[in-house]
Amino acid sequence: MIRAPHIYYEKNNLMVEGVMVEKIINEVGTPAYIYSKSSFIDQLKQLKDAFKDYSAIICYSIKACHNTNIIKIFVNEGCGLDIVSGGELYRALKASVDPRKIVYSGVGKTSREITESINAGILMFNVESEQELERINRIGSSLNNKAPVSIRVNPGVDAKTHPYITTGMKENKFGIDSGKVIDIFRLASKMSNIEVCGIDVHLGSQLLNPKPYGEAMKIIAGYVKQLKDENIDIRYVDVGGGLGISYKEEQQAVSVQEYASLITESFIDIPGITFILEPGRFLTAQAGILVARVQYVKDNLYGKRFVIVDTGMHHLIRPPLYGGYHSIIPVRKKSDVRIKADVVGPICESTDFLGKKCLLEEVYQDDLLAVTDTGAYGIVLASHYNSHSLPVEVLVDGAGFKIIRQKETYEDLLYGELT
Ligand code: LLP
Repeated sequence: MIRAPHIYYEKNNLMVEGVMVEKIINEVGTPAYIYSKSSFIDQLKQLKDAFKDYSAIICYSIKACHNTNIIKIFVNEGCGLDIVSGGELYRALKASVDPRKIVYSGVGKTSREITESINAGILMFNVESEQELERINRIGSSLNNKAPVSIRVNPGVDAKTHPYITTGMKENKFGIDSGKVIDIFRLASKMSNIEVCGIDVHLGSQLLNPKPYGEAMKIIAGYVKQLKDENIDIRYVDVGGGLGISYKEEQQAVSVQEYASLITESFIDIPGITFILEPGRFLTAQAGILVARVQYVKDNLYGKRFVIVDTGMHHLIRPPLYGGYHSIIPVRKKSDVRIKADVVGPICESTDFLGKKCLLEEVYQDDLLAVTDTGAYGIVLASHYNSHSLPVEVLVDGAGFKIIRQKETYEDLLYGELT
């Protein structure tokens, strides 16, 4: 199943925008991540349209796909960025984003990361604990600076997604418990090197039902009112990321309009609010495919077929880690015959699969397969396990394409090792 309109078949050949995938692979080899620029922009447009009547900053969550070429696409479209580390700050600045559009989330910000972010002049820190707040205040004081912060609330709302990717439930490590929120805002507002400017929440990832956003925003709006009454002015309401995409035929795409109404409706009577969105997956997932070459087709004695390809969990860990489903399709359609097979990689682990019991078109050795919807949490979660190098990354723009990250060499595998 392919949802992205820019990834389609033409005369049985898989195309990304105006380019045949096979042509790209002939030049760059496999495995390869290939992305469609127009798909990124189309997804972004949906969100922009849905929020056009509101003051909103879309801060692309670069953890989803952090190649600077891709970050730049969003920056050039006016986006801010959501970051979670010093490394991401570095990437963000390399992509020439306006630092006043960077929001910094995450529970473990180090002193170095905080210092660098204050010096860069970011929009705000999404603070996740009292100790973090104190640290930011101390560093702000040593830099003679007032650090802008928002407090991340853990609203105790069930995002109804995979347990590994929920973040706004009581047992999650993220944010400040509802019971402590007001106190920490009061504390922050008295700190001399802190400027309280926002409130933040992130419920989890891959939400296909937008209702939990509505639930969380009611809670957040309640806090904003109470804080305003106490003269603690909240300008930014950061709603986090989490908007899901349909990986499976039977999954309904989320209504972005409904998402926008559920977020904004609780703030109708609160003036002066700018919404901050931190979408990752929604912007990039459908724009990417991971192309692999079939190495072997192996049947066991128990009626099971394995299609062994030159990529696997080391390049796309979503299937074993979250039970993530990605449909796997041929790069050139040859037959209507369907086979059932596990598509697996070369790694010495039984968790190394891209799909189990997949219904594939008949495949043969040396055929090319594309794993779809891999533009989010694909390459960024890749590893060098078993000393495999990372795949090449390619960006397609209309009728042209360019390599945006070279395939690594064997020498790259030894980078940093001292002998
Ligand atoms: N903001 C914060 C604070 C986050 O922690 C995340 C994702 C996002 C925004 C972006 O969320 P998105 O819009 O992409 O759902 N590796 C998992 C997903 C982990 C998400 C982590 N946080 C996966 O492959 O499903």
